[in-house]
Amino acid sequence: MKNPDALKLMVKEKYAAIANQDKEQNAASCCGATACCEGVDYSIFSESYTQIQGYQSEADLGLGCGLPTEFAQIKPGDTVIDLGSGAGNDCFVARALTGDTGKVIGIDMTEAMISKAMANAVKLGFTNVSFRLGDIEAMPVSANKADVVISNCVLNLVPDKNKAFSEIYRVLKPGGHLSVSDVVIKGQLPKAIQDAAEMYAGCVSGAIQLEEYLVIMKTAGLTNIRLQKEKAVVVPDDILLKYLNDSELKAFKSSGTGIFSITVYAEKAGASCGCGCC
Ligand SMILES: C[S@@+](CC[C@H](N)C(=O)[O-])C[C@H]1O[C@@H](n2cnc3c(N)ncnc32)[C@H](O)[C@@H]1O
Repeated sequence: MKNPDALKLMVKEKYAAIANQDKEQNAASCCGATACCEGVDYSIFSESYTQIQGYQSEADLGLGCGLPTEFAQIKPGDTVIDLGSGAGNDCFVARALTGDTGKVIGIDMTEAMISKAMANAVKLGFTNVSFRLGDIEAMPVSANKADVVISNCVLNLVPDKNKAFSEIYRVLKPGGHLSVSDVVIKGQLPKAIQDAAEMYAGCVSGAIQLEEYLVIMKTAGLTNIRLQKEKAVVVPDDILLKYLNDSELKAFKSSGTGIFSITVYAEKAGASCGCGCC
């Protein structure tokens, strides 16, 4: 399934189902929605947040693949945009760093996620954390808005990654930066995995090559691109065996192909002062 609109619809449906489960249910029921997909266990990807300042357990659906705020250099007063904000997990961590004087905006295309995130913000009494329904490929945000863009395990799900990164560039203020955790591939995934809808929604088959990812960021105009963290993701055999037979599994495991969670940092160059001196 490679039609971008069909992919987005499938992703929306799967995450709408996941939105109404908690972290424990997600971990216990493979990718978070037994009824909608059989395949990927998100606990393979996610990091522990429990010791992180600002962590709110009700916003943690166990769907991340890194800790983007770790390298985001968020300061008090910053405006932060979180792409694919889910139930608001990273937004509330970012809010602890921006404080009352900053602003955090979560964007997600799945209504059930936005509703859950908004309910969490109301419950916590945060008036400077808001959520907008929208697509990362055409963000409902004006240009030059964010000091910092963060995202956790989302851009692999976006069919047009060039558009996603050019949108990130547009919404960043000159001198702003991003810290994104995501899934990338090194090598070639077997076709059966590439074609599995569950593996797309499960953040595997929509992932692209690491090198291509970094080139797309550079093409979008981002500078000072730095790979901050890289961790191999081991998908258990019983999951892979849903798509591969025994000999295909053996070939895949000896092929050198790897699935990695990464956290990458980059900047939008600052505006020139116009004096020719800087
Ligand atoms: C794997 S979950 C991660 C959620 C959250 N970042 C977290 O760590 O808990 C992916 C989220 O991205 C959203 N998403 C996927 N594609 C999107 C797109 N093109 N535009 C906006 N949101 C998108 C989904 O609705 C879902 O909530």
